[in-house]
Amino acid sequence: MVLSFMECDALAMEAVLVWYRGHARSLPWRQTRDPYRVWISEVMLQQTQVTTVLPRYAAWLAQFPDLASLAVASEETVLKAWEGLGYYRRARLLHRAAQQLASEHRGVFPADFAAVLALPGIGRSTAGAILSSCFEAPYAVLDANVKRVLTRWYGVDQPTDRALWSVAQMLIAASDAPREWNQAMMELGACVCRARQADCAACPLIVHCRSAHAVEYVPRHRAQVKHLHWRLHLYRHPQYGVWLQQRPADGIWGGLWTPPIEEVAPQAGAQADLIHALTHRRLHLYAVAGEGEPPSPGRWMGESSAPAVPVGIQRVLALAEQFQHPFPQ
Ligand code: ADE
Repeated sequence: MVLSFMECDALAMEAVLVWYRGHARSLPWRQTRDPYRVWISEVMLQQTQVTTVLPRYAAWLAQFPDLASLAVASEETVLKAWEGLGYYRRARLLHRAAQQLASEHRGVFPADFAAVLALPGIGRSTAGAILSSCFEAPYAVLDANVKRVLTRWYGVDQPTDRALWSVAQMLIAASDAPREWNQAMMELGACVCRARQADCAACPLIVHCRSAHAVEYVPRHRAQVKHLHWRLHLYRHPQYGVWLQQRPADGIWGGLWTPPIEEVAPQAGAQADLIHALTHRRLHLYAVAGEGEPPSPGRWMGESSAPAVPVGIQRVLALAEQFQHPFPQ
């Protein structure tokens, strides 16, 4: 008997779903169909690992249990709640989207693909994840994990996003369980068809995959990392801690609070107090004692509500505190 291409795909898809039902991790966003909760999880997961997201997701929902509570919060509160998750632009766009939903959609998350895609911070893949999870709508997810699974499964060398979207959409259109299908593909990429070490022996696609046992880890071309040297001027108040200024909304740590920063040339022979890695940047941070009056505008750290301070800065401040550096003894 010779099976047609689509019949082969149907068998492969069934194998993936059977595997998923037996192996899926129990994740809180998989226990709900509430679009607000799924949306928050998907935005957190865009650039952050599941293990990091789990406690932050729970804390976020305790602080902002629904769309209305997020929409009325101040940006400062939202950024503070995002502290440590990185890529703060996501938090700002979440907040903006919540406000847009409150004012234009009467606080109800839309079930319509175009309306979801029009929200700030939601691209095609995130929209697919939300709509399939909450409404069983047949829209594909195509994140880095799913791209890798499809590329290996179909044995395509350097496929375009357009080609991958077309395969992903064809598959989900053929599935009668879009919610499970998208989750299963993400799970397969995250847990079995991993970038560095694919576990082909454990893969439900082993008899269907054109790359089985031949997957190679191809390091992605890395964008150039730029080194920045920042001198942090630490002004101290005996009661309120250090003086902070708010970063401009665009750029590194946009909207967050840091001690006054002076960009300097690489310091020959000088050791940075901390080198903080961002995706395409290495920040060499040097703490120095502030002289004279602290520059305006700004605020003392402990003056009123706690400001959002980037993790790299928190580390420098903790080191400075621990070693009494660069403060006079
Ligand atoms: N990464 C992105 N979305 C995800 C999800 N729903 N479950 C696990 N990992 C994910």
